[in-house]
Amino acid sequence: MRFEIVTLFPEFLETLKIGLLGKAIESGLVQIVAHNPRDYATDRHRSVDDAPYGGGDGMLMMPGPVIEALEALDAARGGPTHRVLLTPQGSRFDQATARRFSSLPSLTLVCGRYEGFDERIREEVHEEISLGDFVLLGGEIAALTIVEATARLVAGVLGNEGSAVEESHSAGRLEYPQYTRPAVFRGRAVPEILLSGNHAAIARWRRKESLRRTRTRRPDLFAKLELDKLDRKLIAELDAEAAAEVAEATAKAATANESVDDTPEPSES
Ligand SMILES: C[S@@+](CC[C@H](N)C(=O)[O-])C[C@H]1O[C@@H](n2cnc3c(N)ncnc32)[C@H](O)[C@@H]1O
Repeated sequence: MRFEIVTLFPEFLETLKIGLLGKAIESGLVQIVAHNPRDYATDRHRSVDDAPYGGGDGMLMMPGPVIEALEALDAARGGPTHRVLLTPQGSRFDQATARRFSSLPSLTLVCGRYEGFDERIREEVHEEISLGDFVLLGGEIAALTIVEATARLVAGVLGNEGSAVEESHSAGRLEYPQYTRPAVFRGRAVPEILLSGNHAAIARWRRKESLRRTRTRRPDLFAKLELDKLDRKLIAELDAEAAAEVAEATAKAATANESVDDTPEPSES
């Protein structure tokens, strides 16, 4: 898959050469192409920004250099791409978007700087994406995040393809708790079932813990889950466990109150 990044700071992209992504780039599974709008500036200062019409703080990225960079990328590629503008005003990036992007042959990410873009740049892209409800200094960190989340879903990038199937957000649920050696660390033991070698029982436990975690931490995701018969059974078990815990806590509190009531009043001698 080819990632094209339009940025005034291509140095940011150096970090993509690290780890598994670096290997994917070396092997040709993933291609990263940076293009700098400054190469299309026309004045002797190589300006890419200018003040907003109507006044106001800061500078805007001019349409000419960005749009010419996009056109140069089109000419060099020779096939289609999907153009994405990075902006805090866009739709929120998530795993489903990463999956959708990972099926494309080419993705072009346009990074802003300063106070953002001249509005005519927006008209040149297919969609606008935000990393979240906060404002970054520029689009580069957002681009790095999107490249990493997308590229790891490209076939062959992860050594173990199962990792991308059984993980948080892959099926709208959070991943179950995971443990590695040692079996007991500072008195805290790994759940016995994980040492049992019983693969069916382990799979059931993991599914139940994944439901528990999603319900507790992300009720918004839990509400959207499509539950099957086993899920409903596991949820009934979680409810029964929660009810038993409440009953036990109530009984303990009652016993504690009784022992306070039974304590004789100190005598006033
Ligand atoms: C300082 S921001 C400009 C914000 C702009 N004035 C606004 O209110 O929408 C500069 C650039 O950083 C990038 N950026 C900032 N926050 C972002 C976010 N949450 N997601 C994606 N890109 C972001 C965009 O490319 C943006 O053009």
